[in-house]
Amino acid sequence: MNWFQSFLVSSIGQKIIMSLTGIFLMLFLVVHLVGNLQLLHDDGGQAFNLYTYFMTHNPLIKTVSYLLYITVLIHAIQGILITRKNQASAGGMNRYVKKSTYTTTLANRYMAFWGILIFIFLVIHLKDFWYVMKFTSDLEMVTYPGETHEVKNLYQRVAVEFKELWVVILYVVCMVALAFHLAHGFWSAFQTIGASHPKYLRLLKTTGKIFAFLIPLGFALIPVLFYLFK
Ligand code: HEM
Repeated sequence: MNWFQSFLVSSIGQKIIMSLTGIFLMLFLVVHLVGNLQLLHDDGGQAFNLYTYFMTHNPLIKTVSYLLYITVLIHAIQGILITRKNQASAGGMNRYVKKSTYTTTLANRYMAFWGILIFIFLVIHLKDFWYVMKFTSDLEMVTYPGETHEVKNLYQRVAVEFKELWVVILYVVCMVALAFHLAHGFWSAFQTIGASHPKYLRLLKTTGKIFAFLIPLGFALIPVLFYLFK
């Protein structure tokens, strides 16, 4: 095993990979939420459809998308490996075990639970929107004034989906899972890569809580507003 392979399977290596992929995914969430807020314009979907056209045709963004898919998989696989490792070491814990080790294991177990819910959400979510957009010809094509090319009417698909009560409930429940996952994941990720000075830890935890509240709230509001008003 060379030093890189040893690093990848070491506890610290696994935590660093988890943190870096987590930070990348959090950046994605911000960009994705800002993009999805285009859905709330009262323009019949023009802003959102032009935005998704740009996001799926710009070569740089397309490349970042491939990196995103790989990152989701690495984050999920490493998460499973870390949880299993922690469970194995928790199994070997005796009654003299330090409380901090125990709480870390517990936090990790919850992280895994929220993570699994988010992963299930992602599978359903990608099947409903991403797959339909990329691999089917089910969507209506529209041309907007001033544009030379046709674009897919993904807005219409989103509007139809969010008229289903069970879909809205699923999104809201999964955004609660995302909030809990981020509440621990945000500061944990930055702490692992070195931002652990006591002076900054409080700031990091507060920023994490605000982030973990606002981002899922923004995502959850979209289906609710569609269901009620669109
Ligand atoms: C109201 C909430 C949401 C809406 C309306 C929404 C909408 C969409 C749509 C229309 C697409 C396909 C078009 C595109 O690639 O931009 C998409 C892709 C995607 N969504 Fe969402 N999304 C929501 C929440 C989320 C959340 C919470 C996550 C992550 C936990 C997520 C992860 C993804 C991923 C990974 C893709 C594929 C992106 C790519 O191909 O580059 N989405 N979403």
